[in-house]
Formats: sequence, structure tokens, C-alpha cells
Amino acid sequence: MMDWTDRHCRYFHRQLAPSARLYTEMLTTGAVLHGDRDRLLAFNPEEHPLALQLGGSEPDELARCARIAQERSYDEVNLNVGCPSDRVQRGRFGACLMLEPQLVADCVAAMREAVEIPVTVKTRLGVDDRDSYAEFSDFVGRVAETGCRVFIVHARKAWLSGLSPKENREVPALRYEWVYRLKREQPGLSVVLNGGVTDAAAVEEHLHHVDGVMLGRAAYHDPWLLAVLQRRLFATAGVGSRTEAVEAMTAYLQRQVELGIPVKHVSRHVLGLFQGQPGARRWRRYISQHAHLEPENADLLQQALEHMNPGRDSVQQRFMAIN
Ligand SMILES: Cc1cc2nc3c(=O)[nH]c(=O)nc-3n(C[C@H](O)[C@H](O)[C@H](O)COP(=O)(O)O)c2cc1C
Repeated sequence: MMDWTDRHCRYFHRQLAPSARLYTEMLTTGAVLHGDRDRLLAFNPEEHPLALQLGGSEPDELARCARIAQERSYDEVNLNVGCPSDRVQRGRFGACLMLEPQLVADCVAAMREAVEIPVTVKTRLGVDDRDSYAEFSDFVGRVAETGCRVFIVHARKAWLSGLSPKENREVPALRYEWVYRLKREQPGLSVVLNGGVTDAAAVEEHLHHVDGVMLGRAAYHDPWLLAVLQRRLFATAGVGSRTEAVEAMTAYLQRQVELGIPVKHVSRHVLGLFQGQPGARRWRRYISQHAHLEPENADLLQQALEHMNPGRDSVQQRFMAIN
């Protein structure tokens, strides 16, 4: 998610969910080919398995970007056919590509030709009044003819004009049944459902019908959900508690501060860690108030935890007590 799932966020989410597949923010082919590639594409090795999401509609450029992704050890490259923003439409990519299935197929074919890592597509159900199940299914079918096997479906259509990107994530109706039906009718595809999923029970229910579930906003605003899902769906667990997550992120923060990264670049992603817990507001407020004032304070998260639970020993104190 743009401006949200940067490398610091992904490192954090990886601590919570070792088995989840993580996705970058969408990067345009222009940015990858002509921008500060090292900065844009860098990631921590711990982030694997990691997919690079691309925005573009030029088969040649997408193929070059896919090759770069593979060279840089990304595990998957994903094409965005779901973003409806004006800027993206002006670039003729994102959701408006649903109107051009042959072009998407050409893009995916060129990318697949260029790399061995999986090439996947993230799509909507349709755009504007081109929103019948038949058109959606034809679109997927046409792209699948290239050999693309994984489709992540944001289970609502997009309006290409009249709605902001935020409204386009809320206003069009969710139609999970279409995603289930796609899986039933094209069982050879790996179908991943996305959109409006906010709790573990819903994830488990969807998994009776599809191969995977992608979480967006809920994972960001209530990241502990990732740890809950890790425990419920996989044999291995991530960090055992929110406090352990703070410890892991404190160690990470120390490394980042040494590299000159301001604390707020990391700390903004952990604001939701205590969502729904006593003291959540104190946690958020302490971090928000201090992060920009103390850009080199690598102990900020630890201090926020102590502020939230006055009287509790700090990790450092406990280490000293053990020593
Ligand atoms: C701030 C923000 C940025 C987003 N950026 C992207 C993006 O770069 N690529 C993409 O495919 N979807 C993007 N999305 C859409 C989400 O990936 C997801 O499809 C959508 O929010 C619905 O899922 P959810 O209800 O689980 O959040 C973004 C969503 C938000 C809130």
C-alpha cells in the first residue's frame, strides 16, 4: 500500500507473521527504470517472501522491471490492475487496464518471458458499468492464457471517475461470491481474495472458498491480527506477544538509527500494535509526540511501552537483572 508498506513496515509485519507473503507499495515502471533504484527497491533480507508490485502498461518496460526484480531477489512480481487514482489513469495503468484485457495479457506475457519468478496480477471485479461477472471472468481467463496462475482480486469494482481512491475502497459493494465463483469455475488458478476483511474468523471462512486472503488496511491498523493469523493458520509462530514485538522493533530501530534513518520512519508503522488493548491511546500518543522531536532516540518504543504501563520493568532493566 502506497506510503504504508515500505520496508520498515514490512520488517515489522514479518516479525508478527513469518509465513505471510508481503507486498511492496506499487512502483511505476518509470520509477524503477529511471528513479533512485537502490533506494526504491532495497529491502531487508528478513522480508522474504516478498513481492514487488509494479504499475505500468508497456510490455517492454514491465519486462525490464520484472528482470530487475528477479535480479534483486524478489520472490514474485505483481502487476497492479486495481488502482483507480487519476494519476494512475493518466499513466494508463491500474484499474483502467481492466478495459484492455489483451494489453494486460501482453504485459503479463512479456514479464513471464523475462523471469522465472511468478508473475501475478492484482485486479478488481470490473470498472464503471463494465461490471458483469462474465466480463470479469473473461478478463481473468484472457490473462490466464499467458500462463499467469495467481490472481489477487479486490472484491469490488472501481469507478474511474467521480470517486476518490479512498471512496473507491469503500463505496462499491463487496462481492465475495464472484471471487468464490471464479475459483470454482477456474480451479487451476490460485485465487486470493482481498477487500474488507478485518478479522481472523473472516479469513478462515474465506479460505474455505479460495486459496488465499490478502489483508490491507486491517493489517496496517491492527497489525496484531497478523500474529493471530500466523498462530491459527501455521505451525510456527512469530513473536509471542506485543511486548516481544516491541523488543524486536527496538533492536531494528537501533540498527536503523545507526544508519541515519529518523525514528519516525519506523515508529509510524507500529502505532496500531496495541489496537483494542488498554493503553493503546497512550502508546500512540507517546510515539506521535516524541518521534519527530527525537529523531535519533532508538529507545523510543521501549519508552512508549513504559509510559503505557507505568511501573513495568524496562527490557534493559530486566536484562541487567538477569546479568
Ligand atoms: C493507503 C493505501 C494505499 C494503497 N496502495 C495500494 C497499492 O500500492 N497497490 C495496490 O494494489 N493496492 C493498494 N491499496 C489497496 C489495498 O491493497 C487493498 O486492495 C484495499 O485497501 C482493499 O483491501 P482492505 O479492505 O484489506 O484494505 C492501497 C490501500 C490504501 C489504504
